[in-house]
Amino acid sequence: MKTIRDFAAAKVEHRKIVMVTTYDTWSARLLAAAPVDCLLVGDSAMMVMHGERDTLGATIELMVMHTKAVVRGAPEKFIVTDMPFLAARKGPAHALDCAAQLLRAGAHAVKLEGIRGHADVVSHLVESGIPVMGHLGLLPQSVHTVGGYTVQGRDPAAAARVREEAAMLEAAGAFAVVLECIPQDLARQITATLKIPTIGIGAGVNCDGQVLVLHDMLGLNPEFNPRFARRFVEGAETIGKGLERYAAAVRSGKFPAAKESYS
Ligand code: KIV
Repeated sequence: MKTIRDFAAAKVEHRKIVMVTTYDTWSARLLAAAPVDCLLVGDSAMMVMHGERDTLGATIELMVMHTKAVVRGAPEKFIVTDMPFLAARKGPAHALDCAAQLLRAGAHAVKLEGIRGHADVVSHLVESGIPVMGHLGLLPQSVHTVGGYTVQGRDPAAAARVREEAAMLEAAGAFAVVLECIPQDLARQITATLKIPTIGIGAGVNCDGQVLVLHDMLGLNPEFNPRFARRFVEGAETIGKGLERYAAAVRSGKFPAAKESYS
């Protein structure tokens, strides 16, 4: 993917969009060489990289720093960066300033959670030339209102609300929308109704694309086992074995060998 037009084309041509989170240069380098369409510098960085319990502490400075690190590792990839907690709620001028910092750092688009009460901010960014990806369903930045990281849109009223929000986002000019933790049938209905692509996480197979947190799909955090996060490799186990081999080689005097030493 090079531009937001490629997202629209993918939907029309029924090509699934593959998105993965990344926060640093070394993982971005791996992703640069992988058949992944789009990178997300998610505010999940706060939890995954900094060990916090939620994403609320991700400031604009932190998101700029992670974005720059990712751009260095994957300069050819399409990069979306999360707007930090409350960035959209301080009005269009503040949101525009945050988004400008992220685009200057090298992001191609920003992602914003929710739409109710800040549809004007989405339109303002879009009309200012900043591509906006929406994010509906489970909104991690609203974890204290929702009361946890739970599935959203289960009852008819809640489902209708998410459907309405999806329509509002499209009308405001978003080029794509992440649907997080909603029933797969609701995600299917929204995907069939919207012209813009949906990218699911915990939203079933019928979305136009999927996103996963890199560390979850690589099995780097074995204690974290949500239903939707398939591990495509047992990373923690593989890395653990490597560390055991290193420690054993040091302790037995087998590392470094002569060829790994200077004469
Ligand atoms: O921050 C993040 O990682 C995200 C994904 C869960 C979509 O927003």
